[in-house]
Amino acid sequence: MGRRPLANVIVIGAQWGDEGKGKVTDLLSKSANMVVRYQGGVNAGHTVVVNGQTFKLHLIPSGILYPDTECIIGSGTVIDPKLLIEELDRVESLNISTKKLMISQTAHVTMPYHRMFDRASEERRGTEKIGTTGRGIGPTYADKSERTGIRMVDLMEPEGLRQQLTWTINYKNVILEKLYNLPPLEPEAVIQEYLQYADRLRPHVVDTSLKIDGAIQSRRNILFEGAQGTLLDLDHGTYPFVTSSNPVAGGACVGAGVGPTSIDRVIGVAKAYTTRVGEGPFPTEMNDGIGELLCDRGAEFGTTTGRKRRCGWFDAVIGRYAVRVNGLDCLAITKLDVLDELEEIKVCVAYELDGKRCEHFPNHSRLFAKSSPIYETLPGWKRSTAECRNLEDLPSQALDYLKFLAELMKVPIAIVSVGASRDQTIIIEDPIHGPKRALLHADGTRAITTSIG
Ligand code: GDP
Ligand code: IMO
Ligand code: MG
Repeated sequence: MGRRPLANVIVIGAQWGDEGKGKVTDLLSKSANMVVRYQGGVNAGHTVVVNGQTFKLHLIPSGILYPDTECIIGSGTVIDPKLLIEELDRVESLNISTKKLMISQTAHVTMPYHRMFDRASEERRGTEKIGTTGRGIGPTYADKSERTGIRMVDLMEPEGLRQQLTWTINYKNVILEKLYNLPPLEPEAVIQEYLQYADRLRPHVVDTSLKIDGAIQSRRNILFEGAQGTLLDLDHGTYPFVTSSNPVAGGACVGAGVGPTSIDRVIGVAKAYTTRVGEGPFPTEMNDGIGELLCDRGAEFGTTTGRKRRCGWFDAVIGRYAVRVNGLDCLAITKLDVLDELEEIKVCVAYELDGKRCEHFPNHSRLFAKSSPIYETLPGWKRSTAECRNLEDLPSQALDYLKFLAELMKVPIAIVSVGASRDQTIIIEDPIHGPKRALLHADGTRAITTSIG
């Protein structure tokens, strides 16, 4: 069987978000013709560091930094036009062209009442709050499901928009006033505001599914950039402490409008430890000096809200779960350098649940909440890895640590990241160009060719 040189690859977060998807997507975008965001909205914050310059992206795909890469915000996303326009302005002010950005006609639009509902409902929940980003994500997706949402295509048609928004705002005002005790919105003011946004975004709004299909037909390679992470998935995450979309790999097909047969590979991004922002159970969380050290060394503050991220050891139970629900082919392990100073490093290999050892993620919030980690301890390397560019450059303990993760997760590692910069990366094998091989395996073998190779 001949080798297929190019591939359509999904990049997903294998933990609770902020795994470094932005960095990995940017890195792989060099070989991609198109990068597609397929779910989520401005709750995402993806950081890319190139030549000392930091780019923080929320809705714009991380491929935007390459002049020839087309970027798509797909149907499964939700769009806050105000914040998207601010992001476009920021990116353009850095002399980066946004002409190649396309926005789906069928993506749903976040309205002011969505942001108000998000914040008001969090307040009302009190100690039961989810810890959302407050960007109106849940209410926008709720309206989509309830079939009362406004889509980009609606925004493009002034008369229809006026009619639709007048009705919707009058309806939402009842909830604002009666349930949340908030002042009502003035329909005409919102209509005028959104018509201005429409004018600015109009040149970008197209049938993105058709564009993506065109790229597939002409065998160009496409990266699908996930936002959030597997454990924040609405169906498969730690419900109710999740986001309102499907960050898992399957979400890429639905959210981009392509069939699963077009996907060649799925790469999972995971930190060499774990973080989480917002509320919800987190078995390996460390509220001690080591947790603080990881937070400091990893600069673990949210890209979108600035909130401090909760830090803990690597959790292989959720890792194996991510492999399963995403069908991961390989992993990108990021932030290995953050562990550089540690004497020893723990890895959660299983949970203890009701006095029994549990190898699988208990997909039941009550059981997950009372799962406690069973750790294995590995020696640290106490040396900087920031300058390592090949596996051979790594201290032997760091290599052993990576092999241990590959063994626990039962998938090979393709990429290791040792710093925020684009160049601080060990590419064991490029998941786009390389043949489908087993990469860094637990036994140290690095190139076991499969039938596709
Ligand atoms: P994303 O949401 O998955 O794209 O991740 P974020 O950008 O929100 O968070 C990851 C943070 O870690 C960003 O500040 C990155 O610049 C940074 N980062 C990515 N990879 C590495 C790495 O290998 N080492 C270090 N020290 N920082 C990294
Ligand atoms: P990226 O793409 C980390 C979390 C919020 C909250 C929950 C629900 O940068 O990895 P939402 O506003 O989506 O309704 O909040 O999800 N959350 C994220 N955590 N990274 C993200 O995105 C996140 N997007 C949402 O903190 O717990
Ligand atoms: Mg992030």
